[in-house]
Amino acid sequence: MSDEKKKIGILTGGGDCPGLNAVIRAVVRRAVQTYDYDVFGFKDGWKGVIEGWVEPLSSLSVGGILRRGGTILGTSRTNPRKKPEDLDRIMFHMKKYQLDALIPIGGDDTLGVALWMHEKGFQVIGVPKTIDNDIKGTDYTFGFNTAVETVTEALDRLQTTAESHHRIMVVEVMGRHAGWIATMSGIASGADEILIPEMPFDIHGVCEKLLVRHKRRKFSLVVVAEGALPKDKPSNFLASDQTDAFGHVRLGGVGQWVADQIEKITGCETRYTNLGHTQRGGTPTAYDRILSTRFGVAAVDAVAKGERGKMVALRSEHIILIPLADAVLENKVVDPHFYEIASLFF
Ligand code: F6P
Repeated sequence: MSDEKKKIGILTGGGDCPGLNAVIRAVVRRAVQTYDYDVFGFKDGWKGVIEGWVEPLSSLSVGGILRRGGTILGTSRTNPRKKPEDLDRIMFHMKKYQLDALIPIGGDDTLGVALWMHEKGFQVIGVPKTIDNDIKGTDYTFGFNTAVETVTEALDRLQTTAESHHRIMVVEVMGRHAGWIATMSGIASGADEILIPEMPFDIHGVCEKLLVRHKRRKFSLVVVAEGALPKDKPSNFLASDQTDAFGHVRLGGVGQWVADQIEKITGCETRYTNLGHTQRGGTPTAYDRILSTRFGVAAVDAVAKGERGKMVALRSEHIILIPLADAVLENKVVDPHFYEIASLFF
């Protein structure tokens, strides 16, 4: 079989996420142990494919990484579609290393490049990754559950100090286009207000509700997704106006603005916390390790079956394949059902 031995590449692109290593481990073990494939890991996302930074991965070399945060392969936000010569170099390296298939693990940007490769005729199976849980076609992405646990723990801690000092705590969390982290951690921690990108908010309305609450309970917890917007503001609050290679600005600052406005309008003492990249770091939860492992195994099985241009996805309890083209069409926003549940407790 060695003459026909398949060679597959793997890379992790975009922001890192707990569970990436669990996917890498599952891909390698499934590929080597079940199919006798060779697996090559590209370093630092698409940057490594452009540059030819590649290393062989073995069952042994992925030992002990299941519970490790981050990615042993490294990642970057390199966008090869910015320069035609970079796209050429990607295809050049597929040929040079005689790869038969590639498994890119990433969010919509990384998967968009994967779709381009598929359209060029290369066998690609994508694995969806983002703590934001905003990829279309899959119920959940790995990393999201860990982020929600991290945020919930922080909110629980902030709640006790808010109560002691009779303060309003405003907490900014990640969620660029979709407020999944804010909504789910808000439900889990009994937040008193949740502001998300999907629902522009009126700061005076928010303050009125908080004042009513303060007649009964003298503290509140307000969770704000970084992409949330006041109704009368046309564009997001920015941490920096520089864009990354995919044209994304760095969001940040809406939480501070909300906290300042609440203190000014209500007169209640208010504090602001930004959980930032703590949400992306650290060891994955058991849920994420299991989902990552299932995604990794399913991606290799899809390669073995000759599937092309697909993404593994969780639908109900099952791992299915969907066209990559469907996944990158648009972001998956918060299901209003969840927001309605959360708002019962505001
Ligand atoms: O990966 C998605 C995300 O976590 C967004 O929620 C956030 O806006 C962004 O990444 C931050 O990216 P960076 O690590 O480049 O600051």
